Amino acid sequence: MDTRPFRSVLYIPGSKERALEKATTLAADAIIFDLEDAVAIDEKARARVLLAETLQSTDYGKRAKLVRINALSTEWGAADLDVIASIKPEAILLPKVDAPEHVEALAKLLDARPETAETRIWAMIESPKAVLNAQTIACAPRMAGFIMGTNDLAKDMGCRSRPDRQQLLTALQLPLIAAKAAGIVAVDGVYNAFRDERGLRTECEQGRDMGFDGKTLIHPLQLRVANEIFSPSEAEVTLAMRQIEAFDAATARGEGVAVLDGMIVENLHIVTAKQTLAKAQAFAELTE
Ligand code: COA
Ligand code: MG
Repeated sequence: MDTRPFRSVLYIPGSKERALEKATTLAADAIIFDLEDAVAIDEKARARVLLAETLQSTDYGKRAKLVRINALSTEWGAADLDVIASIKPEAILLPKVDAPEHVEALAKLLDARPETAETRIWAMIESPKAVLNAQTIACAPRMAGFIMGTNDLAKDMGCRSRPDRQQLLTALQLPLIAAKAAGIVAVDGVYNAFRDERGLRTECEQGRDMGFDGKTLIHPLQLRVANEIFSPSEAEVTLAMRQIEAFDAATARGEGVAVLDGMIVENLHIVTAKQTLAKAQAFAELTE
């Protein structure tokens, strides 16, 4: 499991120099450098060279770096892989993954090149087939995480958009469960109305409550909200510390269960409490 944070995962079109440059100063935990849907067909060739040069010459610090290539079945996929492989990418995000065979095919190509010995694979889960095959996709070679492609998914499902995402809940939860079972990262889909902070907040809270590690974002304006919501709140940190204290006191008395604020605290709650404190500590160090 990647222990780095993935609260805010920002898409940057590989064709936009200004955005690529700006990203070095943005508070994104991870960046998806996109060669796929955010890049117009006429720009594909220029974008892959620009992106490879930029990634080689630019220091993006601790941010995780994922390069989204075009699907290998498209006319651009092989060339994207060829150019990007030469710069030893830490991760390739494969779009339109419907089955583990798609990941296996990419893994074989990566196996064949020494530069990509360490490269991990992330999969876009953005089709009904992918949702149904999520369990086997999550266990495919080199898999490190799922990115939910909710716009493509909604298109293929023929569903309408609702603020509560009732229409997508099963399609979000099946891959999420598969990711948890395989011990890989799972990041929620984008919120399209990038100037609507309140709507973004609601959707981030929903994704966090479901268990996603973070949210994919399309605009720098969205970073603050995602970082805040996917971090433990002050109240959660305080509660975690009090739970640990109460449990330690109970253990010292020879008891296996503590009671705090009228609720039982068992060993399993202490595991979560310690994870909360570790996350809060790790996120605080990031902003130092
Ligand atoms: N990453 C980094 N910087 C970004 C950015 C992004 N995704 N989106 C915008 N910016 C930068 C702009 O370069 C601009 O920088 P500057 O003011 O220093 O020059 C600043 O943020 C403000 O941008 P703004 O003018 O508000 O946005 P826009 O109208 O130019 O672009 C979008 C709006 C949605 C087209 C643009 O944000 C975008 O391309 N997002 C990514 C879309 C994407 O990747 N989709 C694929 C996955 S769904
Ligand atoms: Mg897509």
